[in-house]
Amino acid sequence: MTAWQPYSFRERPIEQAIHYPDASALEASIRRLRAMPPLVTSWEIERLREQLAEAEDGRRFVLQGGDCAETFADCRSEVIASKLKILLQMSLVLVHGAQRPVVRIGRFAGQYAKPRSQPSETRVVEGRELTLPNYFGDLVNRAAFTEAARTPDPQLLVEGYQHAALTMNFVRSLAASGFADVHRAHQWDLSFASGARLPDEVAREYRRTMQELLDAIRFMEALGERRVEELSRVELFSSHEGLHLEYEAAQTRSVPRREGHYCLTTHFPWIGERTRRLDGAHVELFRGVNNPIGVKLGPKTSTDDVLSLSRTLNPNDERGKLVFITRMGHDKVASHLPPLLRAMRDAGRRCLWICDPMHGNGITTSTGKKTRDFGAIVGELEESIATHAREGTVFGGVHFELTGEDVTECIGGADGLTEADLDTAYETACDPRLNYRQALEMAFAIARRLRT
Ligand code: PEP
Ligand code: CO
Repeated sequence: MTAWQPYSFRERPIEQAIHYPDASALEASIRRLRAMPPLVTSWEIERLREQLAEAEDGRRFVLQGGDCAETFADCRSEVIASKLKILLQMSLVLVHGAQRPVVRIGRFAGQYAKPRSQPSETRVVEGRELTLPNYFGDLVNRAAFTEAARTPDPQLLVEGYQHAALTMNFVRSLAASGFADVHRAHQWDLSFASGARLPDEVAREYRRTMQELLDAIRFMEALGERRVEELSRVELFSSHEGLHLEYEAAQTRSVPRREGHYCLTTHFPWIGERTRRLDGAHVELFRGVNNPIGVKLGPKTSTDDVLSLSRTLNPNDERGKLVFITRMGHDKVASHLPPLLRAMRDAGRRCLWICDPMHGNGITTSTGKKTRDFGAIVGELEESIATHAREGTVFGGVHFELTGEDVTECIGGADGLTEADLDTAYETACDPRLNYRQALEMAFAIARRLRT
């Protein structure tokens, strides 16, 4: 292996590479990004690593969630606040179910670059077939189907950084203020848009859980004769797919009084299923930073893949460093997950296993809409929890695509959303997300499983 540097990735094959027509404009954007302050700090990253290390031991549980693709247009206070609200609500349900502290990680403040299965897209426009670059997320190009919109624009790298900073700023304030105060958790859903009413049974379960939690908090505070101030604020970490390596490398830096480099666009970058090849550019960039690194693992993953990824991304077998995010599909977990768990366990190598039950369960309706079925998502989670229990490994957390908005993108759940409902509010910029009610119901389903 050659020596690592922030730009050694450029010598490797780059999957999902973006081709900018104007190299000097790209260079100018990179220069600006390199000069701007980081979005997160090394202290925060080290703190997340400590918490992930505890999750590896089964002493914490990870909840990671947010949009498939964030958009600049959705960088608005209501959208961000409701996303936070659902993450907080789910995390309380999970604390109650798992009886462990929950590490909250948003897919936000930089989830702007998307891998695509096809580099281009063809549509019929005014009777003629037109082929344009696919939409790769707001960091790269724009969704409208015109040549100008679809041409990669390096200025969007700077705008992406700015929107990530705005998001991070608002998230940090909300997390530190009365908004996130657990003493007021019972109010979180009252102010919610009336259109997003919870189904009765989920609402009842939510109220009962919140009552139990608040009773427990009051009991603890009475015992200690003081209000527990730590419960008035929460810790939230950011994450996104580290897809656009020029964006990530521009903020990959060494910091005073610490060894090595940190990727300072986010606390927790992950490498996607399509870009995790061992000799590829993505693994090369992220093997050189101190952040915890996630890697998505689909059903094609071999035992060799996990072992070599672990040796490359975590050569010293450190705690809280490597997170494998499995996304097999509900019908493949039982056959495909056990060999991977055994390979790592038998090699005595550390990692945190979390489950993304979304990306292996995509389906297309007869009218061509991408959706996911609530039952299949729960199915993958249940099968994963059971598999870890059988293998004696730790089921360390969950990874969801969700939104706090009242969308209709996934089918099923207590509301009984059907394919016919998908047209009502199908708003995602990429993959279908759980809506507010489905997300909360999902948290209860996991909590019930973790208790037994
Ligand atoms: C995603 O998380 O949005 C994604 C593209 O996932 P994967 O790499 O697992 O397909
Ligand atoms: Co997605």
